Amino acid sequence: MSTSVKGMRDLMGAELRWFHRIEETAHRIFRRHGYQEIRTPILEYTDVFKRSAGDSSDIVTKEMYEFTDKGGRSVTLRPENTAGVVRAMVEHKLLQSNDPQLLYYLGPMFRYERMQAGRYRQFWQIGAESFGVASPESEAESLAMLFDFLGALGLKSLSLSLNSVGTPESRPAFNAAFRAFFEARRERFCEDCHRRIETNPMRILDCKNPGCQAALEGHPTIVDFLDDASKAHHGRLKALLTALGILFTENPRLVRGLDYYTRTAFEVLSADLGAQSALLGGGRYDGLVKQLGGPDTPAFGWAIGLDRLATILKQLQGEAPYEAPTLLIPVGEAASLRALGLAREWWALGLSVQLETRGGALKKALTSANRTGVKLALILGDGELEKGVIAAKHLETGVQEEWALADVPAKLKG
Ligand code: HAM
Repeated sequence: MSTSVKGMRDLMGAELRWFHRIEETAHRIFRRHGYQEIRTPILEYTDVFKRSAGDSSDIVTKEMYEFTDKGGRSVTLRPENTAGVVRAMVEHKLLQSNDPQLLYYLGPMFRYERMQAGRYRQFWQIGAESFGVASPESEAESLAMLFDFLGALGLKSLSLSLNSVGTPESRPAFNAAFRAFFEARRERFCEDCHRRIETNPMRILDCKNPGCQAALEGHPTIVDFLDDASKAHHGRLKALLTALGILFTENPRLVRGLDYYTRTAFEVLSADLGAQSALLGGGRYDGLVKQLGGPDTPAFGWAIGLDRLATILKQLQGEAPYEAPTLLIPVGEAASLRALGLAREWWALGLSVQLETRGGALKKALTSANRTGVKLALILGDGELEKGVIAAKHLETGVQEEWALADVPAKLKG
């Protein structure tokens, strides 16, 4: 028997119903905020990710599904969608005018990660990106939408973990201070951190090794080395979030796993996911558009893990509600023909009706209806046909009534 690829799963049934709920809520809320959907290909030239997510990120160095296609080009299954969206915006010259562009997306992403709970190799994200505005107000607007969305799903008490990672101009001062701090306790850090101090010192703050986290006690913080404009930006965002009632905590060790961030970086973690799993993350990435060949364009965005969101919602609210359709069971050839016509009339009225098309014994049809959670069966036999009625059987109670055919839509709506 063949199985699905390791780390990739089939979505169906109750879990997929949560996905639908989440996706419908996202479309509704994001459009209301003026965001428009964008769908980019799942496959991009590898370069798009190498030039954006960065050489010091695990995502690019260890986790990409990268291969050579039949034409000899290196392509990669997207590990995230910010780079693809930027590539599309630049390719279609949508950033020339300086008008703000508000976009959202949803779809599968691929990372060859170590297998553990809540981590998949094909997972789903919902994300939002805004281009063309550098202000903290645009960040507050985007975060307000994010929390409206989470609130609409019934998640009210999540808190934001916030930091500023500075700019390429302010980072050298932090790096110098941090290198001095590191040298004084070098032997306490892991091998990976010894590599990181050469490539991207900031990333050490995020090391998952408990020994390294302990050695970081008293480390220089990035916010202490910000240039004045970045400091003012950070302060203004915090004031806006406070005014909006969006709770946040400052986390000086938050740096994110992708290299493109400037200034604001944030994550939302959920206790329900376990200590190291973020529900969502994002930030500002003012240099990325230019890096990918476009005009100098400020940008800000975030992405939520849909799989993780569905897990939390199930933990907090149980299975997503499911209402089985009414089952229409014709008995005999004449009834079958009539049932097809009736079902089409009812579907056109927006009623949820499933048609039993197997023929055969009524008992068999009722047994499988019971098994699949059907609550109401409508049975149409020759006798009913003659009288212009239908037998309505409530499967939970066993009670059976006779309804005039003309009354069925009103009864089902009721
Ligand atoms: P990210 O933090 O790499 O950011 O991913 C965002 C979210 O995707 C994570 O918080 C997590 O919920 C989910 N996720 C990531 N990897 C997995 C996995 N293996 N299994 C299940 N869920 C996972 C980004 O991708 C950025 N593009 C976010 C962004 C948008 N920044 C600016 N704009």
